[in-house]
Amino acid sequence: MKIKKVLFGKEKKYYWIEGDLHTQHGVIKGDDISTAEEPIKSHMNKEFLVSEANFKDNTDKLKRGPQAMHSKDIGQIMANTGINKNSKVIDAGVGSGMNTCHLANIVKTVYGYERRPEFLKIAEKNIKSLDLKNVKLKDADIYEGISEKDVDLISLDLAEPWQVIPHAEKALKSGGYLVSYSPSTPQVSDFVEAIKTNKNFKLVKVIETIERPWKVNGRTIHPEFQILGHTGFLTFVRKI
Ligand SMILES: C[S@@+](CC[C@H](N)C(=O)[O-])C[C@H]1O[C@@H](n2cnc3c(N)ncnc32)[C@H](O)[C@@H]1O
Repeated sequence: MKIKKVLFGKEKKYYWIEGDLHTQHGVIKGDDISTAEEPIKSHMNKEFLVSEANFKDNTDKLKRGPQAMHSKDIGQIMANTGINKNSKVIDAGVGSGMNTCHLANIVKTVYGYERRPEFLKIAEKNIKSLDLKNVKLKDADIYEGISEKDVDLISLDLAEPWQVIPHAEKALKSGGYLVSYSPSTPQVSDFVEAIKTNKNFKLVKVIETIERPWKVNGRTIHPEFQILGHTGFLTFVRKI
């Protein structure tokens, strides 16, 4: 079910779907939340601001299976490949579908390859909860081939991305992108070296994105003490 509203307390935010909401600062009536145009109060007289929920709130609450990609990395894929509402995209492996869902939110169609049925089930549920109608999930091993043609982007989050290169060569349109997300440097090295042997691909760049949140309190400003460290490297390759 979709999250409909977000409630902002002093320190914490809460998501609301339906019914009464129980927080550590008291109970807030469902009727008050659904009609709220001004701050509302819990039965303990604590005030909450209410806003409509959107896609981002709903992806924050998706069910997780294997390690999902972080929004900072997903954002880089979107911004660096020129994909848009007309794009045909492949995502492999789907896992619980974090990257798949973000891509589906902005492109025409996503074909999601996943070889583990238990993860496909989680992804299916997540896609349904976001009401995305443009995802075609495939119970398939992408190392064995890609059946789609004229694809704008192939996004990989796999242990051995180099195995996909010959299939991507056939599936991508000229100018299309192959992007590989890998947590470790040996994976990046093997992928890049394999790309260099194929004259139909051009290596664009390898990046790591560091997100460093800051605490701002008047003129007391400093980086947060705890930050997300390493997630993965993104290798961008273009079909010539
Ligand atoms: C780290 S998870 C992907 C997480 C996903 N990108 C996300 O953002 O939620 C890697 C997934 O790839 C799947 N996988 C591994 N090799 C595969 C292959 N050859 N074909 C299809 N799926 C594969 C695994 O089963 C696993 O679910």
